[in-house]
Amino acid sequence: MGQFPLTLSRFIIQNQDSHQGATEEFSSLLTQIGLVGKLIAQDLRRAGLINILGMTGDTNVQGETVKKLDAIANDTFVKVFQHSGFVCVLASEEMEKPISLPGNWPHGKYMLLFDPLDGSSNTDCNMPLGASFSILKCDRTDRLPTEEELMRKGTEQVAAGYLLYGSSTMLVYTVGQGVYGFTLEPGIGEYLLSHEQIRMPERGRVYAANEGNYHKWPAGTKKYVDSLKTSDKATGRPYSGRYSGCLVADVHRILLGGGIYLYPGEVDKPDGKLRLLYEANPLALVVERAGGKATTGMSRILEVEPKKLHQRVPLIIGSRRDVETAEAFIQGRA
Ligand code: AHG
Ligand code: MN
Ligand code: MN
Repeated sequence: MGQFPLTLSRFIIQNQDSHQGATEEFSSLLTQIGLVGKLIAQDLRRAGLINILGMTGDTNVQGETVKKLDAIANDTFVKVFQHSGFVCVLASEEMEKPISLPGNWPHGKYMLLFDPLDGSSNTDCNMPLGASFSILKCDRTDRLPTEEELMRKGTEQVAAGYLLYGSSTMLVYTVGQGVYGFTLEPGIGEYLLSHEQIRMPERGRVYAANEGNYHKWPAGTKKYVDSLKTSDKATGRPYSGRYSGCLVADVHRILLGGGIYLYPGEVDKPDGKLRLLYEANPLALVVERAGGKATTGMSRILEVEPKKLHQRVPLIIGSRRDVETAEAFIQGRA
């Protein structure tokens, strides 16, 4: 008889040693992320039927209109974690200020930063959505962390990953060395290990960018994207454009098949759109651990020193050699 696939909880227990200093508490935290994924996936599956599409009428701290599902997804993260005992602070793209959880202190030594729903423009048209998360460890045990203490470089993340709500629901994360992907088996409500030790191709054949912004891009970025449209000597084909409007889904495709995702800086908006602490850092950790790269165009994402909680950053992420070529164009070396 074949072996039954590993469930997320069993995998975490079996791999606690390789999960870099991971404790039971930390393992439970990842299991709770999985629970958030199941709850949100359930809402998304029924979204068209239960009047949770459309806007709330509010604007978030980023100045963006809030979809009902953004608010529901944020609440789900907060509800699952506020009495969990695993984290002492929650910070989200959708909340102006972090939430401190004194009731979890001093037990909860982790800080969780997240984008509760990524790709919100896809909610009303049944397209893929995601969520990204970043886990940091508090340095102090004598008091709750301050907002400033949440602003850490991506290299300090102890774990990071994303949930993807596509044709199936997935949890992809990294702790320690490897990147692992789990797919939710809806029949039994368990995540099963489906992608072990993900490694990215060094170069891909796909690029993802919102080219509607082409005329706002700096010259080097334009020249790089133009270069992808000329036939490659090796394959005789140009790169294929694939952009879903959901960063998590686009990066997931690239993580598995190679290529490059760009949300670059613009001439009048040099920091681009995506948020460093909730989106760029967690995805950069996953991609680097799978052998890829993530850059602002000028420097490594994981080494960007955050100045603000909701800081934006240009993001160019994907296969190592694709990202290096993009950097060469952006820095005027190609
Ligand atoms: P969010 O829904 O969390 O605000 O993120 C949307 C992001 C990202 O998912 C996507 O790649 C990008 O914004 C899409 O933006 P454009 O519509 O400007 O392409
Ligand atoms: Mn997002
Ligand atoms: Mn979001």
